Amino acid sequence: MGPIIEISHRTADGGKSHSIKVPQFGLGVFLAPADGTCKNACIWALNAGYRHIDTAAVYRNEEEVGQAILESGIPRSELFITTKLRRTDALGYQETLERCDESLNKLGLDFVDLYLIHAPPEDLSVRKDVWRGMEKLLETGKTRAIGVSNYGPHHLEEILQYSKYGPSVNQIEIHLWLQRPYLIKATRESGAVPMAYSPLARGQKVNDEKLHSLSKKLGVTPAQIAIKWCMDKGFITIPKSSNQKRIIENLESLNIELSEETNLILQDYDEDYISGWNPTVDL
Ligand SMILES: NC(=O)c1ccc[n+]([C@@H]2O[C@H](COP(=O)([O-])OP(=O)(O)OC[C@H]3O[C@@H](n4cnc5c(N)ncnc54)[C@H](OP(=O)(O)O)[C@@H]3O)[C@@H](O)[C@H]2O)c1
Repeated sequence: MGPIIEISHRTADGGKSHSIKVPQFGLGVFLAPADGTCKNACIWALNAGYRHIDTAAVYRNEEEVGQAILESGIPRSELFITTKLRRTDALGYQETLERCDESLNKLGLDFVDLYLIHAPPEDLSVRKDVWRGMEKLLETGKTRAIGVSNYGPHHLEEILQYSKYGPSVNQIEIHLWLQRPYLIKATRESGAVPMAYSPLARGQKVNDEKLHSLSKKLGVTPAQIAIKWCMDKGFITIPKSSNQKRIIENLESLNIELSEETNLILQDYDEDYISGWNPTVDL
């Protein structure tokens, strides 16, 4: 399962609320289709020792995540399930409550462990109401923690102005080729823990020449270096794979060690490479 870290929500008086423990390493299921692929990936991962799964309403595979949980026979209390409010569904207070209920129904769960706004709502005028809805979900136990995704420093500053509970995580694209020190600093300063999505740059960089030769030298795989770098930085890290062998390979990255010398080399891989979308720069 790997390390466990704590997340919490900053209160207006600077305190912490609703602190919970999170398995720092998990399985992402973006682009794992609901034709059995997602379910198999989750079952392989759970059998291998993963305890955290990151899905989203927009991935259209929450049902299969739920089926895998059920079939695994693992007690609910040992699992950590994250899902997200679709950006286009982030329309207001009531809508936020309803969309969470829909996700819970699909997952077959009474509560999720972490509920995220997938990206800053495009309509600025609803942002406060959406967050009020998120806070209500936290207070009523529909989720054990709330957070955001794809928030830039200005979005985090804005949300802290009106939140009763600040976001516990900011899920953002982070990897060797997009190290984002300024955004990580802003995230930590807001009281949130960075959650690294696309830690393999969506697979677009695992064949990178430099990384390949480094991995040969270290006797590990390129993906393992990329994942362990995120873990060592303290980010919640959720690589996706639908392949049983790679699911295990990725978990085994937790056992490798990256020396100080290697980390200095890896620091130079940063090239501001966005592999997907980048709503952190939106208004
Ligand atoms: N909040 C957001 O906006 C957002 C955006 C993107 C992603 N996410 C979350 O973050 C998770 C991870 O990000 P991601 O899916 O975009 O990309 P990723 O984890 O960086 O990369 C996944 C890709 O890498 C391949 N791969 C996995 N393990 C590998 C290995 N050991 N060696 C070589 N290739 C490997 C996968 O193929 P196979 O499946 O064939 O192994 C897949 O094509 C998502 O699944 C999702 O849960 C969130």
